[in-house]
Amino acid sequence: IMIGFVLLLLLVAAQASINGDTIKRSDFPDGFLFGVSTSAYQIEGAYLEDGKSVNNWDAFSLSPSNIEDGGNGFVADDHYHRYLEDIETIQSLGVDAYRFSISWARILPRGRFGEVNPNGILFYNKILNDLLLRGITPFVTIYHFDFPQELQERYGSWLSPLMQEDYVHFAETCFKNFGDRVKHWITINEPNLFTQMAYKNGKYPPARCSPPFGNCSAGNSDVEPLIVVHNMLLAHGKAMKIYRRNYQQKQGGIVGIVVDCLMYEPLTDNDLDQEAANRGLAFYIGWVLDPLIFGDYPSEMRQYLGNQLPRFSSAESNFMKDGIDFIGVNHYTTAYAKDCINSTCSLTGNRAINGFVDTTRERDGIPIGEPTGIEVLRVVPRGMREMIEYLKKRYDNKPMFVTENGYSEPLAENENQNVLQDNKRVEYHKMYLSSLAQAISDGADVRGYFVWTLMDDFEWVHGYLPTFGLHYVDRETLNRIPKLSAKWYQDFLNPRYIRE
Ligand code: NOJ
Repeated sequence: IMIGFVLLLLLVAAQASINGDTIKRSDFPDGFLFGVSTSAYQIEGAYLEDGKSVNNWDAFSLSPSNIEDGGNGFVADDHYHRYLEDIETIQSLGVDAYRFSISWARILPRGRFGEVNPNGILFYNKILNDLLLRGITPFVTIYHFDFPQELQERYGSWLSPLMQEDYVHFAETCFKNFGDRVKHWITINEPNLFTQMAYKNGKYPPARCSPPFGNCSAGNSDVEPLIVVHNMLLAHGKAMKIYRRNYQQKQGGIVGIVVDCLMYEPLTDNDLDQEAANRGLAFYIGWVLDPLIFGDYPSEMRQYLGNQLPRFSSAESNFMKDGIDFIGVNHYTTAYAKDCINSTCSLTGNRAINGFVDTTRERDGIPIGEPTGIEVLRVVPRGMREMIEYLKKRYDNKPMFVTENGYSEPLAENENQNVLQDNKRVEYHKMYLSSLAQAISDGADVRGYFVWTLMDDFEWVHGYLPTFGLHYVDRETLNRIPKLSAKWYQDFLNPRYIRE
């Protein structure tokens, strides 16, 4: 009875510690960086100003029916003109670091077929200098979903190996111009999510897919995603090779890649679902990370995909291997994995590209967590710890940064409630931070945490409907107004600072 009681107490304590009520900055190691994340296309606007060219998202959102609310990023949050105010806001939060991305079409309007745009370089120089003056460490994402439309029209962008050359030219332009001040680089944001959305489901430009996945006129949902990720991995590998050879020693920076880290739990206790969860993780996350750490795709992928899966030559495998200094973890949510080899599944899961795994959000009629604004996102704080532990084990505790974690409120609540009273977002961050702190105290080498995102912004195919921001943006005046969560983050980061 006594042992049972102690176990129960331990269980209650473990549960309680994930409710996040007591989480504080000092629960994280010294030198751990806290920050906020954004991306160029989602906030900048000024879509044809000072020499920027039309990019893939500008072209795509010219047809309003491609975006849920008919929106686009032409003006977005007008950060291009308001960057000083935004950096002041970032500083007032008390963060150590700020993650943002470079608009490819702003600094290389014609990719490698034209000149560098000095106005584009100037804009990012101003941002970098201002951040550094204020003691904020920049984390720079080179490519975050947006590229010059010309590269799509000339040769079909990521479906072609030519895109590797364009990417390398872009990355080197960034190293050359900004590398004296940028010590944390991210080559590509979420190759796995982007590829699924753009080449499997047909939802992001260039909207390619094949039945039964969507309503596209062109594409092959089974094969194209594999080619696209292959090109992205080689693009990363080649850029990394150049950085290590010509820049790393002089500039002293580190380079990582950011992966969408959706956690999978087995739908049932059944071994088959357990295997499905492992396969899901290997097919979705190992797809990007295994080649850049071990030099090749996960064996699970080769086993099921055979020759459909592209191969790396031994020279390629050599330069890909050990090709990242850190893993960027974007973690939001967890799904249940259901085996689709021995059981019947919905069509979306029953394809090799998903590792014959279906993802569902319910078990015995009970949803896995509270819903948020984007239907697929659910609040499952334990998933943070599980995700980090999975990566720690698979990749021998490679250094990690949580480059994104965030919450968008359900849309209905958005309409009926005071959006500034975002208690649920505050709870979300506290619980996920608490779960992360547990993984770190168990030895995971996680070095930073970035909230997605600074302010409400253009959320890709969902337009302006989801609102992940710590700040509300009035769509008429574009004024930024802190939500409760901004004040909470500020207090969390610097408890003594009282905001006016
Ligand atoms: C991941 C992406 O990197 C970012 O662009 C997006 O806005 C957030 N997730 C939220 O969906």
